[in-house]
Amino acid sequence: MARKKIALIGAGNIGGTLAHLAALKGLGDIVLFDVVEGVPQGKALDLSQCGPVEGFDAAITGSNDYMDIAGADVIIVTAGVARKPGMSRDDLLGINLKVMKAVGEGIAANAPDAFVICITNPLDAMVWALREFSGLPHSKVVGMAGVLDSARFSTFLAWEFGVSVKEVNSFVLGGHGDTMVPVVEYSTVAGIPIPDLIKMGRSTQERIDAIVARTRSGGGEIVGLLKTGSAFYAPATSAIAMAESYLYDQKRLLPCAVHLTGQYGVDDLYVGVPAVIGKDGVEQVVEIALDDAAKANFQVSVDAVKELLVACKGIDSSLA
Ligand code: APR
Repeated sequence: MARKKIALIGAGNIGGTLAHLAALKGLGDIVLFDVVEGVPQGKALDLSQCGPVEGFDAAITGSNDYMDIAGADVIIVTAGVARKPGMSRDDLLGINLKVMKAVGEGIAANAPDAFVICITNPLDAMVWALREFSGLPHSKVVGMAGVLDSARFSTFLAWEFGVSVKEVNSFVLGGHGDTMVPVVEYSTVAGIPIPDLIKMGRSTQERIDAIVARTRSGGGEIVGLLKTGSAFYAPATSAIAMAESYLYDQKRLLPCAVHLTGQYGVDDLYVGVPAVIGKDGVEQVVEIALDDAAKANFQVSVDAVKELLVACKGIDSSLA
């Protein structure tokens, strides 16, 4: 069987980490694309030289030409500007929208059959714009946010309960931003819902509320510490999990930003919800019952995404 081809658009911190993970996991041959000359080539050379040590044979190349992504099976997009301290995700809108236009056109012309995972922020608006600019089917263009947000939530919950992260299953809905909705009721430790653990005296509502708040500002906390960039290890790992689910038809149920067509009362918008990712891309959207508080939070999140799209359409009239 021919090797799969993984194209990474953006060879910055996340792009480089994605390439490293994809090579270590043997996902296929890798093309790192960037507008900056030398960076994707340099990173590709450095990564290729991991091969003899790690024992992988993946061909890893760097490029500044979209033709080199031709025939890619999976494309992961991190191109754009990362958040700086004090800058909200939404401040990035204008700059990254232009980047999505170039990337979308590059994908449409060279790899229209790919499964595309967008990471560039502000995520819910960028994945929508990328889909519009590329013209690919909605089921083949998804945004990575929920896997990362859930991983952050699970990390804090594992610390709180003093258990392995393997026992924790949590998920986060809504937009990738301060309005995201960590769903406490459906988050469990070895199958025990968090509200039951609170009743058992293992934690308190106040402590869980603080963990929810920390999860919501999880990206900002890291930006504040790094000062010169944003998180990249966990975002890359999260996107690779989505790519594997597609490439190996794992049909994992992952929280992803997907195009909704009436589910959760939302039409023609990308928002984070649980979705089954398999060989056809987004194969199912799972609608879970939300209590009134979660519903209200989800609506705030949806409204924030809607506002971003209005702003996008104001910036680029071709999207209106
Ligand atoms: N086409 C391709 N690559 C581009 C373009 C473009 N039009 N514009 C910028 N880039 C490249 C930059 O040259 C840089 O190498 O995108 C890369 C972004 O890398 P970093 O600045 O290191 O950012 P990173 O930490 O990887 O995050 C990328 O993911 O989480 C989000 O908010 C984050 O939007 C940001 C993205």
